[in-house]
Amino acid sequence: MVWNGEEAPILRVRGLTRTFPGVRALDRVDLDLRAGEVHVLFGENGAGKSTLIATLAGVHAPDEGSIELRGEEVRLHSVHDAREHGISAVFQEFSLVEELTIEENLFLGNELKRGPFLDRKAARRRARELLESLEFPLRPERKVKTLTRAEKQMVEIAKGFRSRVSVLILDEPTASLTERETESLFALVRKLQAKGAGILYITHRMAEIREIGDRVTVLRDGRKIETVDAGSTSEEELVRLMTGRVIDQIFPSIEFSPGAEVLRVEGLTTRSGHVRDASLEVHAGEIVGLAGLVGSGKSELLRACYGLDGIASGRVVFLGEEVNGQSPRRMIRRGFFYGPPDRRAEGLLMNRSVRENILLPAIGTAAYRRGGFLRTGKERDTAAELAARLQLQPPRIERPVSQFSGGNQQKVLLAKSLTRDFRLFVFDEPTVGVDVGTRTEIYRFLAELCEEGAAVVVISSDLPEVLHLSRRAYVLYRGEIKAHLVGEEITQENVLQHFFEREVA
Ligand SMILES: Nc1ncnc2c1ncn2[C@@H]1O[C@H](COP(=O)(O)OP(=O)(O)OP(=O)(O)O)[C@@H](O)[C@H]1O
Ligand SMILES: [Mg+2]
Repeated sequence: MVWNGEEAPILRVRGLTRTFPGVRALDRVDLDLRAGEVHVLFGENGAGKSTLIATLAGVHAPDEGSIELRGEEVRLHSVHDAREHGISAVFQEFSLVEELTIEENLFLGNELKRGPFLDRKAARRRARELLESLEFPLRPERKVKTLTRAEKQMVEIAKGFRSRVSVLILDEPTASLTERETESLFALVRKLQAKGAGILYITHRMAEIREIGDRVTVLRDGRKIETVDAGSTSEEELVRLMTGRVIDQIFPSIEFSPGAEVLRVEGLTTRSGHVRDASLEVHAGEIVGLAGLVGSGKSELLRACYGLDGIASGRVVFLGEEVNGQSPRRMIRRGFFYGPPDRRAEGLLMNRSVRENILLPAIGTAAYRRGGFLRTGKERDTAAELAARLQLQPPRIERPVSQFSGGNQQKVLLAKSLTRDFRLFVFDEPTVGVDVGTRTEIYRFLAELCEEGAAVVVISSDLPEVLHLSRRAYVLYRGEIKAHLVGEEITQENVLQHFFEREVA
């Protein structure tokens, strides 16, 4: 074959197949990545996206198929090997060493040396330059364990940029970045693009496909369905390619029948100062939405009610009793469920089975009951039924959570909420990393909870989610509640109006 620098793709994948016990995660996948393009991988949870890029980044060896880099077949034996070839990947799952500093992590396995010694000064300078070019506000000497999830994500991204790359792979990199950080990431991606690198980009967000995607390859059940032009393909078409069906209604219609007050917050200020003088209430039989930018305090507000964040002043009244400063364990016992946004760090034990994870909140309760299906007392049945209700894929409850795709891990987190008779369900970013089909299932599940008489709070950065699910919504800005919207008032315009500071003329 003649190598033609203009036309030939930088990366050519043919017939790539990879199986795990019982599942063919990749089934004869073909893919061409051109120099200078952002190529989006799109597909349902479990479609094989992460497996594909792990294979391209040297993590997994393919069972069959070939990978050509600039016209030459390569075998990638390790991540290091792939990086030597100019392929760099930022994974969904973080690989940082918590005890080390940012700069140590950035150059781990790739240390800058001066003679036989580590060149710390050079490392710090390079780390600083790297972070500055990305406009990530991080000091290189900070220990990774002191960072928030968003900050860790920034370090992980910076790692991907540390060496000369010709193929950059990003797996849902913006899942916990703010708009501004996302913008600087995109700016860097564009720079790299202009230099002729190829970028493989995984996302579930349509808006991102529009913003930086050139072409989109859709995967379903490990197979490549089609590669299409990002600019000329509609959202409906992408969803149809992805799911094989037409989803006409993503959001369910919900019957609200608000009843007794379940949670009341009066003038709450947290010790961190991230929430100031906030008041709100939540009733049985309704869904209350909390909207606001990352850092607006919308998460901290409910975390403080649940006992995770300290309260400086104000009152939290749950089911008629003041509960300021109670521990999460106590709050669970009282019937308060909190599903955190970061399923890895707080929500799930990755190496334990689905069954163990699902039943964790129920431990210590003699009998659990909910609906009719938890009376048998048989753990396995319980876990299996919950997994079925949320359509866990594959429905193998004895498998460790780490072996499930991102969206299915999210379902396990949600299933945990069903093991006790909770009165209030708080879900913080319930659909992060979840595909459209699964999202529809999760929304239906939230609607059912509410219709069964529970009080539900949805905290979300995804605006349509708040607009379509809430009976009432609160909008936060810099730690304060700026608006309380009811029913028809919950429009995009009204919510956005309070998202940002308005200049008063
Ligand atoms: N280590 C593993 N052991 C067994 N099965 C696995 C493993 N990793 C992935 N799988 C399976 O391979 C299939 C593809 O998973 P993959 O993580 O590639 O999906 P994905 O497209 O990235 O999904 P998501 O959007 O949810 O991240 C799934 O059925 C998953 O359960
Ligand atoms: Mg994935």
